Amino acid sequence: MYVCLCKNITSSQIRDAVETGRAGCVRSLARELGVATQCGKCARCARELVDSCARSA
Ligand code: FES
Repeated sequence: MYVCLCKNITSSQIRDAVETGRAGCVRSLARELGVATQCGKCARCARELVDSCARSA
């Protein structure tokens, strides 16, 4: 599922970034993948995804 349409980033890419330790918050996701760096509409969804990955880790 696409989370960030501006940057074409999927939930799998975000999950992978969190699980491999490349990102642990929306700010690091922005740095790694560009999530939430344009319109910003995906920030909330991205944050929820990061939180759910952290909880299941
Ligand atoms: Fe992610 Fe626009 S949908 S920045």
